[in-house]
Amino acid sequence: MDRDDIERRIGARSFARLLGDWRPPDGRRLAGALTDRIRLLVLDGRLPLQTRVPAERELATVLEVSRTTVAASYDALRDAGVLRSKRGAGSWTQLPADPSRGASASPFSPHGDRTLFDLAHAALPAPSVALRRAAAAAVQDFDAHLGGHGYDLLGLPVLRTAIADRFTARGLPTAPDQVLVTAGAQSAISLAVTALTGPGDRVLLEHPTYPNALDAVATRGARAVPVPMGPHPDGTGTWDLDLLTAAVRDAAPRLAYLIPDFQNPTGALLDSAGRERLVDLARRTGTPLLVDETLAELGLEGPPARPVAAHGAADTPLVLTIGSASKVFWGGLRVGWIRTSAAMVRRLAALRASVDLGGPTLEQLVVARLIADVDMIAGGRRAELTAARDHLLGRLTEAFPRWRPSRPDGGLSLWVDLDEAVSSRLTVAARRHDVLLAAGPRFGVDGAFERHLRLPYTLRRDRMDSALDLLVTAWRGLDSAAPAVDAEPIAVA
Ligand SMILES: Cc1ncc(COP(=O)(O)O)c(C=O)c1O
Repeated sequence: MDRDDIERRIGARSFARLLGDWRPPDGRRLAGALTDRIRLLVLDGRLPLQTRVPAERELATVLEVSRTTVAASYDALRDAGVLRSKRGAGSWTQLPADPSRGASASPFSPHGDRTLFDLAHAALPAPSVALRRAAAAAVQDFDAHLGGHGYDLLGLPVLRTAIADRFTARGLPTAPDQVLVTAGAQSAISLAVTALTGPGDRVLLEHPTYPNALDAVATRGARAVPVPMGPHPDGTGTWDLDLLTAAVRDAAPRLAYLIPDFQNPTGALLDSAGRERLVDLARRTGTPLLVDETLAELGLEGPPARPVAAHGAADTPLVLTIGSASKVFWGGLRVGWIRTSAAMVRRLAALRASVDLGGPTLEQLVVARLIADVDMIAGGRRAELTAARDHLLGRLTEAFPRWRPSRPDGGLSLWVDLDEAVSSRLTVAARRHDVLLAAGPRFGVDGAFERHLRLPYTLRRDRMDSALDLLVTAWRGLDSAAPAVDAEPIAVA
């Protein structure tokens, strides 16, 4: 038994909370439904790997089902490779060693199966013409770097300058030494959370929020303080700044992580007055704000908003701003950044050295070239995305008249109220029809958002139409008895 086995366990009551409303409405096929739900929790990361699950009898008591039901479910999960057991010691979650195990008839291959409709990633294909042009130019730029050793903890100066200039153009004067280039925004989130918090510290987040930020907080051993997004007539949600202020005062978090630009998943955009209030709150309470601008360049109405850090009287080191090349350009570049004080950049860079020693030179040169054309590229995306959003909204009205989708003014996805708490069930059913979804509860804590689903409008129109047809079929067969097919972790972006 390794150390993890001893340390990580989930009690029956917490497990029941995480399972949420897993029972099929007709009360039949209980063991199958329980198996499907536990498998989904493991694969989409809500139930960490190497976690010891409750004993059969204990779980049966809390769930008010027979022990046979839980035993049958655990057996099926062992068969599928999702649980491993040691006689007399217990059962632990794991990923199936062989993706085809427990995945009868699964055509899914992580290397790009064409029949899988991926609605778990909200990310676009590359703008191929602009990207090829930038890559060709970057190959020329590459020559000048080949004589050096190629390591650069902080990022290439040419890219740091391009990022700084973009902030300056958006109304936030920035010097290159205030920018650290990272391996995507996710790496920046993880670095900042590690630098600014410790185990047991509280981190305030919007609820719902970006799942991988929740995971970064959990990995640090910090505690999430979720602050609900308020309702908004167009369904995008809005910030209740009174509530947020009260939460900062009551919980005294070590850090607040916020996504004011087309909040993932709700799509909400914080207005200028709200941005000012945030900076004021940070100043008055000394709470650092980690502002994630990953989606900022994807407004459908025009150019991006002025960064939060540009509000208030003077630039404050309390606001750290994260950005990314992934959404406006392409996820495959794996380039992101964090803008903060020059001193904090050096501190984060020192921390980074334990994880990686810098980014790839060629990709950084490509992004430096792309940033020069960001207005043109974002402008091209705008028309495409507006049409895609409206098309998806139209199709949803026809196919699912009871669903209530948001109508965001930017970003890449709709946040849909399903009118029933069935998001996880739909995710399992959709997977049987080759549609990959990220269930609503991925975006929250303690099983919240089972009534919600994030639907990206990033697939090509014909693929989006096919995916929706399959989703309709899945919806009709929500509790069908077919075996589950997931065998791979479900990543969300
Ligand atoms: C709000 C938010 N932050 C961070 C990320 C991660 O971005 P990257 O690909 O740059 O790591 C995403 C990607 O989906 C996102 O939506």
